[in-house]
This record gives sequence, structure tokens and C-alpha cells, in this order.
Amino acid sequence: MELLPFWKNFSTTQRTPRILILISLTLIILGLIPLYHPFYRYPANLVVDHSSKITSPLPYGSATKDQKIKITEQDEGTCNVFIGNWVPNPDAPYYTNTTCWAIHEHQNCMKYGRPDTEFLKWKWKPKGCDLPIFNPYQFLDMMRNKSMAFIGDSVGRNQMQSLICLLSRVEYPIDISYDADQNFKRWKYTTYNFTLAAYWSPYLVTVKESDPDGPSHTGLFNLYLDEPDPKWASQIEQFDYLIFNSAHWFTRCSVYYEKNQIIGCRYCGLPNVTEVPINYAYQKALKTTLKAINSLDKFKGVTFLRTIAPSHFEGGEWNKGGNCVRKSPFRSNETTLDSISSEFYKTQVEEFKVAAEEGKKKGKRFRLLDMTQAMWLRPDGHPSKYGHWPNANVVLYNDCVHWCLPGPIDTWSDFFLHMLKLEGRRALEEKLQLK
Ligand SMILES: *[C@@H]1O[C@H](CO)[C@@H](O)[C@H](O)[C@H]1NC(C)=O
Ligand SMILES: *[C@@H]1O[C@H](CO)[C@@H](O)[C@H](O)[C@H]1NC(C)=O
Ligand SMILES: *[C@@H]1O[C@H](CO)[C@@H](O)[C@H](O)[C@H]1NC(C)=O
Ligand SMILES: *[C@@H]1O[C@H](CO)[C@@H](O)[C@H](O)[C@H]1NC(C)=O
Ligand SMILES: *[C@@H]1O[C@H](CO)[C@@H](O)[C@H](O)[C@H]1NC(C)=O
Repeated sequence: MELLPFWKNFSTTQRTPRILILISLTLIILGLIPLYHPFYRYPANLVVDHSSKITSPLPYGSATKDQKIKITEQDEGTCNVFIGNWVPNPDAPYYTNTTCWAIHEHQNCMKYGRPDTEFLKWKWKPKGCDLPIFNPYQFLDMMRNKSMAFIGDSVGRNQMQSLICLLSRVEYPIDISYDADQNFKRWKYTTYNFTLAAYWSPYLVTVKESDPDGPSHTGLFNLYLDEPDPKWASQIEQFDYLIFNSAHWFTRCSVYYEKNQIIGCRYCGLPNVTEVPINYAYQKALKTTLKAINSLDKFKGVTFLRTIAPSHFEGGEWNKGGNCVRKSPFRSNETTLDSISSEFYKTQVEEFKVAAEEGKKKGKRFRLLDMTQAMWLRPDGHPSKYGHWPNANVVLYNDCVHWCLPGPIDTWSDFFLHMLKLEGRRALEEKLQLK
């Protein structure tokens, strides 16, 4: 299959039986091309919704009440917009693959024959209030003379492309990238003098691929858990808004370094290197990332940390026939979050709080773009087998990680605009307080 410019070429050679066994024993992500393809093991055992009875229609075990996790309350107003349900929206979608050119090939589900369209027709209804549908004019108006960067993995890119498509009703950006590297794009909305940039940094910390093949044929990565990735860390001071994301890549085979010394690894198969829990590594990496932002003296922007968007493999792991074939959302009382996503989520919330507290002292603003619950309820929003032609030779045949465009990820811009408006209100309040 033709590799797309946005996808880092990733070697995907034949597997030997030994490797197959290793793969089946470990929880690794297999790289299709540049993406991360998590290979989450169910059972689900944590509950996102904390208001209702737990039942699980999934064949992966059940949850217990005391394992519930709470979605963080925003400190704004009385309504937490991140808790709610999906409700029908006959007006959606707001673009198609013929009106928007920014749709990534592997997320162009309609092109590859997805037959159902119900998944396009939902909007988010927070409990106790409403979340307005994204208004591209309002967004661009607020972004006059501003700049924004997406930093993270391909789900972050998925979000950026969704935003470009939603904005395409008003204007398309021009490409002002510094070079041809598709992992570092820069766009300009000339009418609004608004700059949008993307930084590819799936681990957020410094990484060196020590072996493109590795024990699982998904690469072996040396992660320097205490060093922020200079690819973004040296570039972000100029931006007004940063949107960070990470998680899925951490399930791959890696060797962990601190102070330049190996401290352990994850399924690296190296002698005398001990296994370290994934969560230790993730927490450390996220801490490093957020600390780096807090220590940038010149950075005056707002940092959004987007929480994990869970994948939805059912009936097996990603390489064992797992698939996502549902055609409509769950209600919040119908499902539970899987344990790996829950762990990532908890780490994100914890580290966010630590950084936000520290940031307050330094005049830095951190916000949580808390998408986990909304997206866990959307098993119907992934490409599944409609991210490529049926005969394509792809490693991850059923993509239950990324999101079709158009699709539920468009809703992230509803949340994002809502948060930007709150930001404006806060700034105004701060001004008034100073008077
Ligand atoms: C858009 O989707 C339609 C099916 O709805 C498909 O026939 C067409 O090839 C797609 N066009 C592009 C440009 O992706
Ligand atoms: C944008 O920048 C231009 C030039 O510096 C200035 O004239 C204009 O007022 C600015 N607009 C906004 C909304 O800040
Ligand atoms: C565009 O915005 C930047 C700030 O991001 C500002 O310095 C510059 O003057 C603006 N240019 C115009 C033409 O408005
Ligand atoms: C592993 O550790 C043992 C005991 O300390 C040592 O004898 C051996 O040489 C080490 N192997 C490697 C490959 O470092
Ligand atoms: C979930 O809530 C809906 C609406 O409140 C209700 O109709 C449905 O029966 C509930 N489902 C379960 C499994 O509790």
C-alpha cells in the first residue's frame, strides 16, 4: 500500500513464530505505519460515568463500584461539560470528503465504503447544560493574530485535520511549512493572520529508535524519560495555544533512560534489563513534558492537555480479530472504560493537576481537554476496515484507534471553542480584578 506523507514509514516485515508468541504475551502496539496501534487487553474494569448503575454489554468482564474513577470537575461554573451523553443531531456532519481536502486517507471512511451514516449524526449533550456546535467564524475571529500548535501523536493530527475541515466553510489555510517534513507542518489562515502548526512527538520526551524492527517488529525505542523532546521544546515559546496529547505509543517495546542510564524497559528482550511498569514511564514522561512548559520563561500561552481517546477493539485484541463494528454510541450507563485507558487517564489528570498548581505560581495556564468519557462512548466512530481498500496489505486491518472524518472527533472542536471562550472570560475577569 502506498505510504502517505503524514505517515512515517515503518518497517513491517514478516513475523517469525517466536515473535508471534512474544507478541501474544505482551501488550505492545504494532505500528501500522507511523501510528501507534495499541493492543489493549480487556477486561474493562473502571467506570467513567459515576452517576449510574454499571452494566457492561462488552464481553470483557465487569466493573466494580469501588473502581470507579471520577472525571475531574472543571473549576468553571456549575456544569462539567465533559460529563454527558451523545444525542441525535440531524444537522451533522458539517463537511464531507468532497468539501474538505484535509481528511487523512486512512480516516476517509466514506471513500473506503463505510455503508452506515448514523455515526455522523450525534452531538454531545453535557449533563445540566448545553455545548454549542462549533462555529468556525467565531473560532477564527478569536484566533486573529494568534498561533496554535498541536503536539503529540497521530490522534492529535486527526484532531487538527478535523479542525481544518470544520474551518473550511470559512477559509482554507496556506501551507507555510519550513520544509517538506510532513511531521512538522505549518499552516496560515491569511485573512485572520492565524498560524496553525503540528509537531510530531508521540512520546513528548526525547526518543531514539534503536531498532526499527525490534522484538515485536514494531520498533524498539530508547526513551529519555527526563528529557523533553527538543523538536517541540525549542519551538513553542512563540505560541498562544498548545494542545498536547500522548499515551498510545507508550505501549510499544521501549528501553527507558533517566540521567542517560538505562533504568528498565518494556518488553525489550535485553539481558539484565528489568521490566518497568508502563505507568511509571508514562507518568515520568508527562511530568517531564509539563515541567518543561512551566520552565519556559517567555511562554505566555495556554496549554491544553487532551486526555486519552480510548480505542475500541472488541472480540479480540487488535491482531487477534478484534474489531469495532458498532453503529451507534453507548449511553454513559452502558459501558465501562478499559483498564489501560483508565490508567493513562488517571496519570494525565494527576500530572495535569501538579503542573497547573505549579503553573499558577509562574503565570502559566494549563487546561484539561477532558475527552475520555465522550470518546469511550463512541465505539462506532473508528474507521474499522474502512481506512483502506479491502485488499490492502496493512498490518492493522481494523483501525479502532483513529476516528473517521467527518465523525465524532469533530466534537472536540465544540469543546475546544467552549474552553477558549472561558479563557476569554477569565482574562476579562483578571483585568477587572486588577482595576
Ligand atoms: C468521498 O466519498 C464517496 C463515497 O461517499 C466516494 O465515492 C468518493 O470517492 C470520496 N471522495 C474523495 C475525494 O475522497
Ligand atoms: C492584529 O495585528 C494587526 C497588526 O499588528 C493589528 O492592526 C490588529 O489590530 C490586530 N488585531 C487584533 C484583533 O488583535
Ligand atoms: C500577525 O500576528 C502577529 C502575532 O501573532 C503580529 O505580530 C503581526 O503583526 C500580525 N500581522 C498582521 C499583518 O496583522
Ligand atoms: C548480567 O548480570 C550478571 C550478574 O550480574 C552478569 O554476570 C552478566 O555478565 C550480565 N550480562 C550482561 C549481558 O550484561
Ligand atoms: C440507561 O439510561 C437510559 C436513559 O436514562 C435508560 O433508558 C436505560 O434503560 C439505561 N440503561 C441501563 C442499562 O441502565
